[in-house]
Amino acid sequence: MYEQVSHSLLNEILIKLNPEIKQQELRHFYTRLGANFYAIYSLFHILYGERKDFEYQALRLVETMARQYIDRSEFLKNKDIEREKDHNWFLNQKWVGMALYTDGFASNIKGLNKKLSYFQELGINMIHIMPILQCPDGKSDGGYAVSDFRKVDSRIGSNEDLRDLSESLQKRDILLTLDVVVNHTSDEHDWAQRARKGEKKYQDYYYLFDSREVPDMFEESMPEIFPETAPGNFTWNEEMQKWVMTVFNDYQWDLKYSNPSVLIEMLDIILHWSNQGADIIRLDAVAFLWKKIGSTCQNEREAHLILQLLKDCIQVTTPGVLFIAEAIVAPVEITKYFGEDAINAKECEIAYNATLMALLWDAVATKNSKLLYQGLRSLPDKLERATWLNYIRCHDDIGLGFDDADIHAVGYNPVEHRKFLINYYTGNFSDSDARGFPFGENSKTGDARISGSLASLVGLETALDSEDPQRIDNAVQHIILLHSIILSFGGIPLLYYGDELGQLNDCTFLDDENKAHDTRWTHRPNFDWDKAELRHQSGTIQQKLFNATKQMIAVRKEIPAFADFNNRELIHVENTHLFVFSRFNVLQTTGGVLVVVNFDARPQYLDLEDPNIKSILSYGYIKDLVSGDTPSIFNGQLVIPPYHFYWLTDQQRIS
Ligand code: GLC
Ligand code: GLC
Repeated sequence: MYEQVSHSLLNEILIKLNPEIKQQELRHFYTRLGANFYAIYSLFHILYGERKDFEYQALRLVETMARQYIDRSEFLKNKDIEREKDHNWFLNQKWVGMALYTDGFASNIKGLNKKLSYFQELGINMIHIMPILQCPDGKSDGGYAVSDFRKVDSRIGSNEDLRDLSESLQKRDILLTLDVVVNHTSDEHDWAQRARKGEKKYQDYYYLFDSREVPDMFEESMPEIFPETAPGNFTWNEEMQKWVMTVFNDYQWDLKYSNPSVLIEMLDIILHWSNQGADIIRLDAVAFLWKKIGSTCQNEREAHLILQLLKDCIQVTTPGVLFIAEAIVAPVEITKYFGEDAINAKECEIAYNATLMALLWDAVATKNSKLLYQGLRSLPDKLERATWLNYIRCHDDIGLGFDDADIHAVGYNPVEHRKFLINYYTGNFSDSDARGFPFGENSKTGDARISGSLASLVGLETALDSEDPQRIDNAVQHIILLHSIILSFGGIPLLYYGDELGQLNDCTFLDDENKAHDTRWTHRPNFDWDKAELRHQSGTIQQKLFNATKQMIAVRKEIPAFADFNNRELIHVENTHLFVFSRFNVLQTTGGVLVVVNFDARPQYLDLEDPNIKSILSYGYIKDLVSGDTPSIFNGQLVIPPYHFYWLTDQQRIS
């Protein structure tokens, strides 16, 4: 493809632009459009070049960007320019995030707005408020079945409340992350309703089929996402007399991105929320954006092209805004969501580190880091200007998405090992205090995933029932230890609301018929503000957890080696109970940190004479950055207490 072709199309588009747009002062917009148009054109052409209306659709795409640029406030436009100058701003170690449900945390958006000092007390400066847009009552999938993409759900507030919240966050220098559910709509969305009534235009927004012929072909290779509650990937619609593709729940209709109008609508929605002050947009279920017969309909090349195209359009219109890819897929697939052919991320700057998350749960259950180490070593390097969202728990289940080859490599049988983990976390293993629930059990494939809050999964609930102080302490240590990893690993740590206080499973959802079948509600709690008060009371679990988390966050922010410039090295040590990695400063030889974690119930020893360790730490000058103390060293062996961690520095090298 020649650049001339794209240039001449751009010229034509600029001539045809609506006169209202032409009158505006759009200098920055045009500069960026010129710089990005070849990429935009190329991607748009691969996806839609065959269509007769290709040029018309390209014009609509540019008009959509221009209109949203005109709507963007001067304040946000200036922020865009600042962020362009400091384009690695989000790789800095100062960012620490938390994900939360607005209603669960503070009843509604106004309530949340009054609680912002809580985040600042802990050190959180990025919040992901779980989806807040209008959903039908009951059939909401926790906010992921949107019936109006431009309206805040009246149960939690109004668009104005959100604007107020966004302003308060800006004043406090807290980043706002909002969801855009790009893959599907609720069956009550206006587009779906109009499709049902027979409007051809909107029928073309979805995958609709008159008979089972095509759906059956798709089903041959498509897995089921919710096998127990929403088996299959298609739902019969009586009114239209058609089968609708519904990969998730039967009331979530998959959008058809082979229609450019769908892409343009979604771009418009993403830009709209960017203009309402979102700093980061979480793009939900991005692996599913392209459907092809004969494939799993996940991670298709076109799904990546769509994301690249959306990113290019964002670069032109609202360049300060970042994308998070929610792609909970195989380790080798996840990194592709940063963009494959580029050096710098050209797709989503941030991606959920589902690999690390699942591997951490493996290490807790096995009390060793064999699979954790192996799995991370096989994870492809990520691009520059791309970063992980490191998390332990979120609103979804834990999928055991490790690579089978890695499980084999450490000497386990993949089927047996996964079965062990499910049993371990769901109460079917005698030597485990974990109290989780199975989710998405599939009798055909034998697969299952796990629900449960962090505290209950590491045994706090069982320990409290047993009133055994040692077991309680073990659970508390686990919560701190897992946080110590996401806070030091490299990337943005994303805490989950309540975990900083040891929130247990919340089973009240069982009383709600719309939720009872979905165990993920176990860990979408109502935040207990009375218990939260106990963080000020000495000796309580809440105080131990909150203070430890707060301390780690504060220390993290002071350590430049914790910024994410691919400056981490996993270190192999003989003792497999230990997980060891180093973080180094890119520009200097000083200031590095050695992170050492003990997953075992007994004290473990790190051999300081090990050449891999010796090259980093000088014996005799070791300090733990969190406590400020020098850990015990015995006969050249550093002692790491049970379920404990250190962030070690070599004082000699620093001074
Ligand atoms: C995402 C959400 C999940 C939801 C699914 C379908 O994966 O995280 O909660 O069920 O999308 O929208
Ligand atoms: C599957 C999907 C993921 C979704 C989850 C919901 O793991 O891949 O996108 O969040 O199911 O439970």
